[in-house]
Amino acid sequence: MNIGIDKIGCYTPHLFVDMKQLAVARDVDPGKFITGIGQEKMALAPITQDTVTLAANAALEILDEDDKEKIDLVIVGTESGIDQSKSAATYVHRLIGLKPQARTFEIKQACYGATAGIQMAKGHVALHPDRKALVIGSDIARYGLNTSGEVTQGAGAVAMLISQNPRLLAFEEHNAYATDDIMDFWRPTYSENAFVDGKFSNEQYISFFNKVWEQYKEKTQLGLADYEAICFHMPYTKMGLKALRTILDEGAEADRERLLANYEISKTYNKNIGNIYTASLYLSLLSLLENKTDLQAGARIGMYSYGSGAIGEFFSCVLQPNYRNYLYQAHHAEMFAARKEVSVTKYEEIFQEKLPTDGAAVSLNIDEDPAAIVVAGIKDHKRQYVNKTK
Ligand code: COA
Repeated sequence: MNIGIDKIGCYTPHLFVDMKQLAVARDVDPGKFITGIGQEKMALAPITQDTVTLAANAALEILDEDDKEKIDLVIVGTESGIDQSKSAATYVHRLIGLKPQARTFEIKQACYGATAGIQMAKGHVALHPDRKALVIGSDIARYGLNTSGEVTQGAGAVAMLISQNPRLLAFEEHNAYATDDIMDFWRPTYSENAFVDGKFSNEQYISFFNKVWEQYKEKTQLGLADYEAICFHMPYTKMGLKALRTILDEGAEADRERLLANYEISKTYNKNIGNIYTASLYLSLLSLLENKTDLQAGARIGMYSYGSGAIGEFFSCVLQPNYRNYLYQAHHAEMFAARKEVSVTKYEEIFQEKLPTDGAAVSLNIDEDPAAIVVAGIKDHKRQYVNKTK
């Protein structure tokens, strides 16, 4: 049975910071942020957006009534969850109007959460072929003002519908994975910002890639020539390139050229949004599908997922006939075009705005946020979510 991604959509907030402006404000050569790190714009979440609303907004655009009827599994992968107990998936389930006969939960393993969700959804659909699963990666990446990770922040979500006979991509049989207990990136429960050993995280990302790439080759006998493109988890867009370069010698000149050219296309949305942790790999996949117009059905796309702490996984999927008819490219183009730039001073102000943590109630001005689903405030320790379309 073919199981895979039937639909894919993304959402990012309406505000962004230009990386050239951030470089000037931080007294850094803009070349470092634009070329050295590979980021051009950084999405900024206003106080009226959180992991739940980003996830719900990403899912809202792609689901029709038939999907809603068939979805009985909702998984949100995130590492910026809003509650230690209740899952983001349960809020999302209500906000987008799914039926009650569903399993809903949240998964955490740094940037790997959505991949874990996809693998679980694959098993679910294999057992229940007439059902569909909604898997969402949703995150707000925060390293803090004036930190070396600041340029690699971002906010957004990617939602994917997993089903049999998928219209976009079918997963292939094998997966290769590896785990090791390391401290390259973590966020203790008392901290709003992540702690990171930046250089070590870069090394580990590449080392895990090399391990799972070798393992996958052994399992499948596939080599560089068999891939049209390889998509990478992109904490910043230079990172995947560094990993890709370590294996390019295994291929012929034509393979190198093809994979490098497609890598460039696969970073289109990521360099304009920033790191969205769990969703970054899938945002890169979406960039490739929507911006490379001549991909052929049957083409194989490799997928490298990395979650600090750490786990790495490699798997692949195959493009389905007429996949382009089932993308939401025009909607995404509109979303990007409608974004507004904010100054670095305004970004710092918004970044430091917080919902009360002492149990106080608050009511937020939701008129300035054009998103369909927003946080309207807190009352009785409960976040008040509003779907403006209802
Ligand atoms: N023009 C062009 N490139 C420039 C430059 C300039 N003026 N100045 C510096 N660079 C390049 C550097 O040569 C380097 O390139 P390289 O990585 O290919 O060698 C790159 O810009 C980054 O410079 P570096 O000094 O290493 O940056 P940094 O110490 O500020 O840290 C990170 C960069 C990514 C480690 C940091 O942003 C971070 O910790 N991010 C969060 C963690 C993360 O994303 N980890 C990834 C794995 S999950």
